[in-house]
Amino acid sequence: MTKAGVVGVVIAVDGPSGSGKSTTARGVASRLGLRYLDTGAMYRALTWAMLRRGVDVDDATAVTAVAADVVIEPGTDPVAPTITADGVDVAVPIRGPAVTRAVSSVSAVPAVRAALVELQRRIIGSGDIVVEGRDIGSVVAPEAQLKIFLVADATARAARRTAELGGSNDLVASTQQDMERRDRLDSSRPASPLRRAVDAVVVDTTDMTLDEVVAHVVALVPAGSATTEGVAP
Ligand code: DC
Repeated sequence: MTKAGVVGVVIAVDGPSGSGKSTTARGVASRLGLRYLDTGAMYRALTWAMLRRGVDVDDATAVTAVAADVVIEPGTDPVAPTITADGVDVAVPIRGPAVTRAVSSVSAVPAVRAALVELQRRIIGSGDIVVEGRDIGSVVAPEAQLKIFLVADATARAARRTAELGGSNDLVASTQQDMERRDRLDSSRPASPLRRAVDAVVVDTTDMTLDEVVAHVVALVPAGSATTEGVAP
């Protein structure tokens, strides 16, 4: 996709859970014919592997000892994202409650971040990719041509996350509590916390449909990026 000698575009999409990151990042990648990388799925897959090995996820030394041993392989097709850990397809179990409860502890460990950030940079390579996460614009790809930081009010985020998980409306309050706990942990950890890059564009998605968010982000892609030609309608 990248023309010879032209570095492809990198679009960073960061923000807290439920802000619309995945739908936005996948939608933008599909519209622009770019690859897509879900870094949250990588932290979840590593967490799944830790739990499978019986590692105590609150013991940073134990997590560090295993971090570099697990082989995480994310696919980059925005239409059909895939993820494996040690060769096992973990797309479904990484969304379950056990992984969701443990992932903030695992992702706070510096050795975990070092291993996954290195892998993420390798996959980003020469670009043509939309990357979603918490620290993409600030740490993983500070060279990204476009950095988006999505926000939404807590109730809207909880309602979206509950719907994604197929839960009924009475679960919104407990989902909100769980999300706020994770956001607190993700924002307060010393190793690359959730933080907006100074040059990121903040998009508040509370009152937007996700289609509107995708269109808004596509319109922000700098003219002259290697891929802005041939944008699908
Ligand atoms: O986006 P998500 O909810 O699938 O992310 C799961 C967890 O992974 C989240 O609690 C924080 C962590 N994470 C991170 O620390 N850095 C990233 N770039 C992406 C996710």
